Amino acid sequence: MTVYLVGAGPGAVDLLTVRALRLLERAEVVVHDRLVSAEILALIPPSAEVYDVGKVPGGPDNQTSINELLVHHGSGGRTVVRLKGGDPFVFGRGGEEFAVLASLGIACEVVPGVTSALAAPLAAGIPVTHRGLACGVVIVSARGCDRDPELGRLVAAGLTIVVLMGVARRAAIAREMLEGGLDPATPVAVVERASTPEERTVRATIRDLGSMRVASPAVIVIGAVAALSLVGGPAAIL
Ligand SMILES: C[S@@+](CC[C@H](N)C(=O)[O-])C[C@H]1O[C@@H](n2cnc3c(N)ncnc32)[C@H](O)[C@@H]1O
Repeated sequence: MTVYLVGAGPGAVDLLTVRALRLLERAEVVVHDRLVSAEILALIPPSAEVYDVGKVPGGPDNQTSINELLVHHGSGGRTVVRLKGGDPFVFGRGGEEFAVLASLGIACEVVPGVTSALAAPLAAGIPVTHRGLACGVVIVSARGCDRDPELGRLVAAGLTIVVLMGVARRAAIAREMLEGGLDPATPVAVVERASTPEERTVRATIRDLGSMRVASPAVIVIGAVAALSLVGGPAAIL
């Protein structure tokens, strides 16, 4: 009687962990999010009961019914996999689901996944830390702490900011950082659909972030390293 909270990674099937793959292959019930790729969903055994509980951005919060579904199936005898994009504990509400199950005595095991917060910059050839350019990285969600004017100061102090769920709020993010004193020439990269065939990277400066033509799901990288492109050899370094 264990619910497995499993990270599915950013999209590519070969970025699943071996542990995630083994659990998926023996899953009897799968409850999955919207951003889990079709390629990964194809690994679920045809005999499994599958629930798509993906939240539509801006749509109603269905977390309570997801929790109820997990409690219902977690109380039965079958192998239940709760499959989440990226890592379950990085803006995935995995902690809330774990707490609900634990409070009812239902065993829950968490399987880490490759988070888009790190995999998307990497796919674009951006190291989120880099000696001499970025001494650390801060991951934020645009649904909350991006409004902190301190973020601009963190970039100025040499940290990389990675924003998830930020496409719709990109103009406000840029404005707030500029008001916080950030240099308008600070590099920015937006990485869409990392690790999938539709992956695309668009680069600009924080001054132009608001007018960039980009679409969700995407990760916004802000800081000196966003100008790097460490793919294809030394000539690729901008
Ligand atoms: C609800 S959060 C879930 C994050 C997830 N738990 C993780 O660790 O990657 C969804 C956000 O993750 C980012 N995201 C997820 N998959 C992505 C991908 N393949 N490429 C770029 N961004 C992605 C986007 O910012 C998206 O709005």
